[in-house]
Amino acid sequence: MTTKGKQLYAGKAKSVYETEHPGQMIMLFRNDTSAFDGERVEQLARKGMVNNKFNAFIMQKLEQGGVPTHFIRLLSDQESLVKRLDMIPIECVVRNIAAGSICRRLGITEGLALNPPTFEFFMKNDALHDPMINDSHIRAFGWASEAEVARMRELTFKVNMLLKKMFLDAGLLLVDYKLEFGRYQGQVVLGDEFSPDGCRLWDAQTRKKLDKDRFRQNLGGVIEGYEEVARRIGMEI
Ligand code: TMP
Ligand code: ASP
Repeated sequence: MTTKGKQLYAGKAKSVYETEHPGQMIMLFRNDTSAFDGERVEQLARKGMVNNKFNAFIMQKLEQGGVPTHFIRLLSDQESLVKRLDMIPIECVVRNIAAGSICRRLGITEGLALNPPTFEFFMKNDALHDPMINDSHIRAFGWASEAEVARMRELTFKVNMLLKKMFLDAGLLLVDYKLEFGRYQGQVVLGDEFSPDGCRLWDAQTRKKLDKDRFRQNLGGVIEGYEEVARRIGMEI
């Protein structure tokens, strides 16, 4: 039995609640969809359910592949039980193909293959628009130790190895993605979520966008895009 206790935190797309177990919490995936650091928020029907199930599927794949994650089990359409991590306030981004902010920052054309893939840290702070940082900032501000920084990088690349292949086998290009980590019993563990809200996925043939860029760029069919990805990787929604 897991009972939902008091709300611990509400983010832009998810809320988290206590359970009777101090080391576990419930993550509720809402239908809220935000872009541009929360400047634009809309409700998209089915998004909470789709992302909850998508995240569960990916987290289980990653766990099987040797990436420790916070995921425990699905509780309902929009809720999952997860380990309660001490979150590190940093976003780790790997890019296999140029899109989004790297194009704006470095004047690169969208679609350029990045080989080897790039790795970037961003500070999780909407008010500051998630500025890019490097390991020296993380050390200087005491956000994580050198060993934790190395582990986050190692696990982020391991995720690339596991998921790039899984998506390609389904005819999809994993363009880029963002991960967040936390500490659990002295270990660095993958937290937050992996869903089309926090990654870019393109059809391998046509390069059609099937991720949150459909929302950011007003392309329409946002959840239909997410559902197409889910179907192609063999998920049942
Ligand atoms: P970017 O191109 O905006 O830097 O984002 C790179 C990838 O990381 C993209 O798939 C979106 C994801 N991301 C988030 O989901 N949230 C964030 O706050 C940031 C900075 C990136
Ligand atoms: N997740 C961030 C936001 O909602 C950035 C983005 O996805 O554009 O504002």
